Amino acid sequence: MRIIKAKDYDNMSAKAATIIANEIMLNPTITIGFATGNTMLGLYKSLAKMHSDLGVDFSKITTFNLDEYHPIKKDNKNSYHQFMFENLFNHININRQNINLLNGSTKDPTAECKNYESKIRNNGIDIQLLGIGINGHIGFNEPGSSFNSKTRLIELDETTINENSKYFKNKKDVPKQALTIGISTIMSAKKILLLANGKKKAEALKKMLQGPVTEDCPASILQRHPEVVVIVDDEAASLLDMESIPKEICGYKIISDDNLPKNKKIAVISPHPDDSCIGPGGTMALLSDKNDIHTIIMTTGYRAFIPNTTKEERIDIREHEVIEESRILNSTPHFLKLEFYDSGKEPLDEDIEKVFKKLKELDPDIVVLPQKNDLHSTHKKSRDITLEALKRLKKSVELWSYESPWGLFNKGDFNMITSIPENRFQKKLEAIKSHKTQVERTNYVTVAESLAKLRGALIPEQELFGFGSNKKINPHIELFYAEEFKK
Ligand code: F6R
Repeated sequence: MRIIKAKDYDNMSAKAATIIANEIMLNPTITIGFATGNTMLGLYKSLAKMHSDLGVDFSKITTFNLDEYHPIKKDNKNSYHQFMFENLFNHININRQNINLLNGSTKDPTAECKNYESKIRNNGIDIQLLGIGINGHIGFNEPGSSFNSKTRLIELDETTINENSKYFKNKKDVPKQALTIGISTIMSAKKILLLANGKKKAEALKKMLQGPVTEDCPASILQRHPEVVVIVDDEAASLLDMESIPKEICGYKIISDDNLPKNKKIAVISPHPDDSCIGPGGTMALLSDKNDIHTIIMTTGYRAFIPNTTKEERIDIREHEVIEESRILNSTPHFLKLEFYDSGKEPLDEDIEKVFKKLKELDPDIVVLPQKNDLHSTHKKSRDITLEALKRLKKSVELWSYESPWGLFNKGDFNMITSIPENRFQKKLEAIKSHKTQVERTNYVTVAESLAKLRGALIPEQELFGFGSNKKINPHIELFYAEEFKK
């Protein structure tokens, strides 16, 4: 889930309109699930303006509305049918054939709902817009609605009737029932965009985002949807614990100076002698004051080109470079000299046993290793051997898979970001320089610096936008996929 903070209602509406307009421009035949209610008014106004001023083209989109009162006539000014035409459809170039609305005056709600549900399932919804009720409802799925529910007739909650009575002359005029698409119908949408503004929504939003997933708060199910964006204004977000959001909700854990792990034993797998500092070296420098860091150097790296040297000399030179690196990063090196590197064969059981023994001796809480899509075969084998060794260890550890120049992450491949202060990042660069023979051949200092800088420039914009203005990300960051390795 991504949380985008907006300062007020207008800002929330503008942000939502930008997202919807973008989606339409990328996919002109998109299917959008529309919602009604006060929350949507600003968004619809902005979309109408985007059509008239910027020419955003709605002619090929298909729409399904979330819900409708029952019974209610289409031309009743409080029907959601009227709402949609008045506030949006009359102001854009939508093809009316492509508009789908539930018929609130149907005599056969069961058939109407069944038909609507199968239309949605056949067509699919690309992006579903949602508001949230003060009781946590989405659509008219009131508290207690089953997470498996489909489009159906529902009795409205007293809270909803009270809340919506402001639109009717008398409270008794508010229909007591509604037709609504179900929770499972909503969850079948590819993407969901939920908007919430105002103090009144703060409690419901807190339950939805930071409470348990329960049918008592129907919106809480959205915690389980893979692609949800929530735009909230300051008032609606006032009860949220924004600090914990990056960890628990937005999908990214951010490690920086203010929340460093402490007193952990951390084993960093370095397939070649210089891989750990070129990859997660900044994170090692960041964590080393408060944790006990061990670098496990899997191979001798003797195949590296160092002119006029014998194999033995190269092994020795590279070990010395690691010792210098470890002094800078404040870590303890362990040289395993695994066989597979020398033999060129698949890893032997002895290699796994060696790593197993080392891990057993170290008993780490966190194991840091090359990521699964690292393209270099020595890196791949080192990862596989480590995972095999961990299986033998029968201990649960945190696994942090790191990005390196040989294994760049794509979107969705990482879930943890370490934000590295300048002085710590300089340590990484210094540590890389201690691999003098390698840096002379390829400028890994520039490579590592550029990658961390590129990530630092792009990730906050692409992934973290709106995380809460109080989270400052340093210009250099490193990326990881963190998971639990279960015994
Ligand atoms: C509307 C809908 C409802 C509203 C919710 C918030 O189609 O299904 O779930 O989104 O009741 O209403 P407002 O925006 O009026 O606060």
